[in-house]
Amino acid sequence: MKTLLFLVAQLVLSWATTVPTTPDNFFYHDFLNENGSKEIHFSGVKLHVDTAQLSVFGVRGGNATLPCRFWYEPELSSPRAARVKWSWVSAAGGQETDVLVTFGSRSRSFGRFRGRVQLRQEFTGDAALVMSDLQLNDTGLYRCAVVDGLEDKSATVHLELRGVVFPYQHPRGRYHLSFLEAQRTCEEQDSTLATFTQLFQSWEEGLNWCNAGWLADGTVQYPITRPRTECGGHNVAPGVRSYGRRHRHRQRYDVFCFSSSLRGRVYYHQPSHKMNLTEAQRACQGDGAEIAKVGQLYAAWKFTGLDHCDGGWLADGSVRYPISRPRTNCGPSEPGVRSFGFPPPEHKHGVYCYKSEDE
Ligand SMILES: *[C@@H]1O[C@H](CO)[C@@H](O)[C@H](O)[C@H]1NC(C)=O
Ligand SMILES: *[C@@H]1O[C@H](CO)[C@@H](O)[C@H](O)[C@H]1NC(C)=O
Ligand SMILES: *[C@@H]1O[C@H](CO)[C@@H](O)[C@H](O)[C@H]1NC(C)=O
Ligand SMILES: *[C@@H]1O[C@H](CO)[C@@H](O)[C@H](O)[C@H]1NC(C)=O
Repeated sequence: MKTLLFLVAQLVLSWATTVPTTPDNFFYHDFLNENGSKEIHFSGVKLHVDTAQLSVFGVRGGNATLPCRFWYEPELSSPRAARVKWSWVSAAGGQETDVLVTFGSRSRSFGRFRGRVQLRQEFTGDAALVMSDLQLNDTGLYRCAVVDGLEDKSATVHLELRGVVFPYQHPRGRYHLSFLEAQRTCEEQDSTLATFTQLFQSWEEGLNWCNAGWLADGTVQYPITRPRTECGGHNVAPGVRSYGRRHRHRQRYDVFCFSSSLRGRVYYHQPSHKMNLTEAQRACQGDGAEIAKVGQLYAAWKFTGLDHCDGGWLADGSVRYPISRPRTNCGPSEPGVRSFGFPPPEHKHGVYCYKSEDE
């Protein structure tokens, strides 16, 4: 039996080396479909695929390498070209879409991933996916599939971004946003709808919020770390509570948005006097910047420890301030971004501006 397997491996290898590499494996399939050949030629040669990590973390604008390697058992004495295909299911759910397909030195990337992904190929069997310029909504489950004609094996790895989740309420108050409006609202504030994993992580870090908000998968949930009567009752354990999937058009809630690190800088600006909203917008422009969005203020607070005890205007017409080192007269005893809500636009405040790194 051993001899036979050895011969089989030799046969496969000599076949693989004498036949020019073709961009697809039709030839291979024809070859295999000859009756009985499959059993004879490939019995005992097994393809294995695995990813060394369950999850990989990145930040917006950064790079990430999703590990994947494949090997044969018994080991082959010379390398074979296999087809590697990476695909993705968004953290929001939906269909599996193609990311990258490679065969030997040829490769093609697809859709939103075009030009941002490549196969690492540092050693034999290395099929790690190298991603650059990560976007907020690149999170999800990535599948590394290796096809070499005889077998098709795959393994998966999660991509998560480090960032910050923030609850957002419409200026007119609680529960005003349909799912689509919630999605647009987050985008307008330089963020994206949070996923359940992101909300759960924030809950573990202490996020306690008594209003239900949309998540990327179309469910409505809220994180409770300190149960209270008006928040579902005293007797219920802390946790992320779910209303389940809600009607995307007819039902209205708040939203949980997610933002990650920034390329630019957020700072408090107050030229010589406090300003109404229009003056605040102009003041930032006059400083070669723009009025900061809510997601940018949260990102600066989370990633650079921005700390300033004066409320300032933001792009959505709200007034907020970021506190990293809690102290008296600067709000509650926990760090956080405090909000004064949406004052009338003629009220006078400072402003938070955002200056992009490119300028
Ligand atoms: C060859 O395989 C096909 C199906 O793959 C089968 O229908 C056919 O009977 C087989 N022929 C022989 C000679 O075994
Ligand atoms: C990401 O990788 C590219 C090369 O692929 C490199 O030029 C760039 O500096 C990297 N970016 C970061 C943030 O590490
Ligand atoms: C993902 O985010 C980018 C910008 O960050 C946006 O242009 C794109 O429409 C988003 N895609 C999806 C599917 O939400
Ligand atoms: C802000 O003040 C300017 C005058 O400096 C005035 O023209 C403008 O209408 C005011 N805007 C608001 C929203 O009150």
